[in-house]
Amino acid sequence: MHEDVARVLISEDALRDRVAALAGEIEQAYEQSVTGITVVAILTGAVVFLSDLMRHLPYRMEVGYITVSSYTGPAVTSGGAKLGVISLPELRNRDVLIVDDILDSGGTLRVVQSVLRDRGPASLRTAVLLRKPGKAPAEVAVDFVGFDVEDVFVVGYGLDFDGYYRNLPYIAELKSERYGRSSDDA
Ligand code: IMP
Ligand code: MG
Repeated sequence: MHEDVARVLISEDALRDRVAALAGEIEQAYEQSVTGITVVAILTGAVVFLSDLMRHLPYRMEVGYITVSSYTGPAVTSGGAKLGVISLPELRNRDVLIVDDILDSGGTLRVVQSVLRDRGPASLRTAVLLRKPGKAPAEVAVDFVGFDVEDVFVVGYGLDFDGYYRNLPYIAELKSERYGRSSDDA
């Protein structure tokens, strides 16, 4: 275990198994898709989840991405989200699947879902690896959830604190003395 980690919440094995099962759920949902799906990843946090998930999906697919910054500090989210780079293929009349690391306050997904809906997809669904239950408003709907997690700040498997720890292969809670500085990286 990394020296800054207080405890592991989701092990590497549990992540591998659940991501494979989630891919099965997604595959079923898109059985009728004629155009194949277009995956839109929210970077940087979704990068590890995306790469594991997409290798389980047998469809014809395209992949695009959007970068998002939160207005707040490294370990707190307020629901404020600002779009950065948008690199997307044609979404009109496509079956679009948003892939994100975590649904917390819902601010990020609210903005991204609205921007993508405006591009006229045939369908728009969202997959998140993690969800902190009860925090996002009901109108920010997600269709596929890997794990519900308790309301602590987590890192690893793509999720960062102040830009770091994304490369940990598990989901963990940091030691409290590691918190305290500020960044805007989502
Ligand atoms: P939101 O509050 O749902 O908008 O969450 C937005 C973003 O905040 C997520 O995509 C993550 O990048 C980040 N975030 C929220 N909670 C956590 C956490 O516990 N650890 C690391 N990043 C988080
Ligand atoms: Mg972040």
